[in-house]
Amino acid sequence: MTMIKFKPSPPPATAHERAPEYVRAIAPYVGGKPIEEVARELGLDASTIIKLASNENPRGPSPSVLRAISVAARDLTRYPDGNGFALKAALSEALHVNADQIVLGNGSNDVLELVSQAFLRQGDHAVYSQYAFIVYPLATQARGALGIEVPARDYGHDLDAMRAAITPRTRIVFVANPNNPTGTWLAGDVVESFVASVPKDVLVVLDEAYNEFLEPSDRVDSTSWLARYPNLVVSRTFSKAHGLAALRVGYGVMNAAVADLLNRVRQPFNVNSLAQAAAIAALADNDYVAESRRLNREGLQQLARGLDALSVRYLPSHGNFILIEVSDAARVNQSLLEQGVIVRPVANYELPEWLRVTVGLPAENARFLAALETALGAQPASARARR
Ligand SMILES: Cc1ncc(COP(=O)(O)O)c(C=O)c1O
Repeated sequence: MTMIKFKPSPPPATAHERAPEYVRAIAPYVGGKPIEEVARELGLDASTIIKLASNENPRGPSPSVLRAISVAARDLTRYPDGNGFALKAALSEALHVNADQIVLGNGSNDVLELVSQAFLRQGDHAVYSQYAFIVYPLATQARGALGIEVPARDYGHDLDAMRAAITPRTRIVFVANPNNPTGTWLAGDVVESFVASVPKDVLVVLDEAYNEFLEPSDRVDSTSWLARYPNLVVSRTFSKAHGLAALRVGYGVMNAAVADLLNRVRQPFNVNSLAQAAAIAALADNDYVAESRRLNREGLQQLARGLDALSVRYLPSHGNFILIEVSDAARVNQSLLEQGVIVRPVANYELPEWLRVTVGLPAENARFLAALETALGAQPASARARR
């Protein structure tokens, strides 16, 4: 009698193995370390730690915004206005666009995701620059689309090369102005010529998260270009200069037909009621933003002076952060953490020798510079000599 040997069938695939390959290949976003986490890990007192890692406004929101939040907090029972009528009306007045051209987001990150969700499918291309904000590759990859990373020029966007990278498969081009983490910036006329040169069936997403930190002489009214370029999307946020990062509210301004598509894929209640009320108040408080811009400019100068004194190279920044080159960045970062100073390593941007430092209040900037001096002093002589 012959024995028939049954081969055990392979175990069924687990649910997570069935997820699309392009999703499983995504490298998770790494944010700035929370103060509490650093306190726990290093046994430090949380109240002594400073965080200069996520490009927030060190002043927080203005008093008028805090008042608006406390009024809105009296009614948390109802869902927020899913169409954000009052906030869109305020933005429409401030930006001279129609309300139906505005899409509100849970942070401007949400707007970037919505554009990708509505316009990218597997096999499509999205073009962005080397060292550009990391959400562009993440949002592209999450749709199975192909990210075309164009080599940077002097750490900033090379718009000619980005234009040349556009093919019939390109659906979106992302431009960050100013860019995070490099702080590089392109003049308005240069950006507008680029937008004009892009084929009309390709969206240009102009990410202006740090727009309010630009000097008024450098700032252009890019939303006014929408009348000429129906393929333009301008995204902005209340997270940075307005000091509202925790509430998550941003917006995109675009052609009404594009906005309509984004609204179809948007979660119905993506911006909560406290965030909407806070954003309306923030938009009205121009003086607070102007003062934040002034403090930021002085903070950048303070950091530049201190870095010069330490012979540390940095990139001139148009944002509220500065990218510094310290060769052994992982070790310098660890030393800073042990001294209670959280900054952002940017090895995930292929910048393993650099750290990004958010501009803080004057005392925070001074504390960072002192901690950096200590960290560099402890650096091996061979590494220091390379600076
Ligand atoms: C260039 C850029 N765009 C967009 C964002 C998203 O910010 P938020 O989602 O808080 O509006 C950031 C945040 O760091 C950024 O640096």
